[in-house]
Amino acid sequence: MIPLLDLTAQYHELKSEIDSAVVRVLESSQFILGKETSAFEEEFAGYCDADYAIGVNSGTSALHLALLGAGIGAGDEVITVPFTFYATVATIGYVGATALYVDIDPGTYNMDVRQVEAAITERTRAILVVHLYGQPADMDPILDIARRHKLIVIEDVAQAHGSEYKGRRTGSIGDIGCFSFYPTKNLGAAGEGGRVTSNNPEYARTIGMLRNWGEVNRYHPVLKGYNYRLPAIQSAILRVKLRRLEAWTKARQEFAAAYDRLLEDADVMRPVSIPDVRHVYCLYTIRAANRDHLQDELRDAGIQTAVHYPLPIHLMTAYADERYKAGDFPVAEACAQQVLSLPLYAHMTAAAVEQVAAKVCEVAPKKYLDPLLTSR
Ligand SMILES: Cc1ncc(COP(=O)(O)O)c(C=O)c1O
Repeated sequence: MIPLLDLTAQYHELKSEIDSAVVRVLESSQFILGKETSAFEEEFAGYCDADYAIGVNSGTSALHLALLGAGIGAGDEVITVPFTFYATVATIGYVGATALYVDIDPGTYNMDVRQVEAAITERTRAILVVHLYGQPADMDPILDIARRHKLIVIEDVAQAHGSEYKGRRTGSIGDIGCFSFYPTKNLGAAGEGGRVTSNNPEYARTIGMLRNWGEVNRYHPVLKGYNYRLPAIQSAILRVKLRRLEAWTKARQEFAAAYDRLLEDADVMRPVSIPDVRHVYCLYTIRAANRDHLQDELRDAGIQTAVHYPLPIHLMTAYADERYKAGDFPVAEACAQQVLSLPLYAHMTAAAVEQVAAKVCEVAPKKYLDPLLTSR
């Protein structure tokens, strides 16, 4: 059995450090925010090259607070993609704003920047860009459009901790960055967790207050806030794991490079990187014409895979919007039928990568047209 990922192996690598971090918090009995969360905020801000990092209780809360902190609300529009985890879109709804979709690029699965400008209306206030699967979106054209139209840029970095675009760390390229520490992410908590990053002191101050009931001083809220605090135990565990994140990222990149090589002989599309980015491979996602068959065959061979994501948001019942219908975002709709994420995690083995790749090549062999045969 080869799992999609193995969180137990990750825990065992760091068991003694994680256990003592947890005990340290239990002994201090400072469970909410506190020293551990401030220390993690500082360390994570450094990791992201951001001036501020605010710990929150999930990536969803991070997105919600980013939108609120940027002053986005009822009647406003936010440009984003329909091919993402639905938290991206749900939170736009939480603040009373409307999601405006643009399709994705068929190579990278990220926002097709060529479509952004045409989508802007006089009610558009922000671009919420997702760095899907661990690869940064093409940020320069997005920043350029945002500057010209006075739009705020929010980055959904839930899947891309430590990724870089032209030497800049994601989460500090736009105005506000939103991270998730859901256990399956490149940096995962032992439960829920998230983080907002920014270089803007005003956004950071407002978001810092909103995550803790809008308080400046205890029992004196100045904003209508939320209980979105990051528990100290999660911060303590995340501090331990953050020290391993670079090594884990390198391992992911090496396994991804091995898949790239081994899948040359498969009739599948491998991940495509744009120039000058650091892809951190939260997921190694291929495209296959006969995806469901491939997934069934891999499952029968004891190989676990997953589909991220089987439906674009505009076709989900919960997010149905009369402005959008099937066929409006052909690339997102085709990808939803064809994408398949293969096992990839820092603690897997090269032998497991070879085994997965061999099975993919067997089920979906490349259809070579041998030039010698065809010319005869
Ligand atoms: C792209 C994206 N955005 C947002 C989220 C939401 O994060 P969380 O599950 O921590 O609320 C996730 C992860 O689940 C995600 O993958």
